[in-house]
Amino acid sequence: MGDKPSYLGLLNAVAQGEWRAHEYLTDWISMTEDPDVQAVLRTVATREGEHALAFTKRLDELGYGIKVREPDAFEIRSADVARSGKSDLEKLTALGYGKARDTTAPDAFDEFFRDHSIDPITGALLGRYVCEERDSARRLQELHRTLAARTPVATPQGKAAAKRTKPAAPAPRTATARTPAASARPAKAKATRRSTASAR
Ligand SMILES: [Fe+2]
Repeated sequence: MGDKPSYLGLLNAVAQGEWRAHEYLTDWISMTEDPDVQAVLRTVATREGEHALAFTKRLDELGYGIKVREPDAFEIRSADVARSGKSDLEKLTALGYGKARDTTAPDAFDEFFRDHSIDPITGALLGRYVCEERDSARRLQELHRTLAARTPVATPQGKAAAKRTKPAAPAPRTATARTPAASARPAKAKATRRSTASAR
């Protein structure tokens, strides 16, 4: 093996951050009854889990393993929001998806490619990852707009009513509408996850 790649820390941070996001988004899915929210979160949570495994796999191919690090403040706050008793709309707002973003402005992902030593295989993985992350953010922003349009009044009373209101007619859950992973997950495990979510 040649010199140690300079981007191992980046791969390590992405692998762990993505796995944590997969876990708290999966918990959030189990806490909502809104099928529109479940559908978007399922897409994003599945991507996060796959990113975690893909980056762990790439580290392994380069000859390295995961170096466990503590979650940073952003990860802790995001997990707390996702697992909180807030409404889905309040969670999305707290996570910043209610704000319009300038898609031409630089973001944190642009920094990844300042390292010109990145090998082509890792570069391809990073490129796909970055574009999926930005697409996930767009989907969550769109979900925020959908939920905000459904919420009638912005008064404190209206806000409280919106929080209590369940979706009018949740679509029936069918086996085909669920991912293999979700179908395989026993209902009991889901209930347990919900009860432990607030304790974590
Ligand atoms: Fe992510």
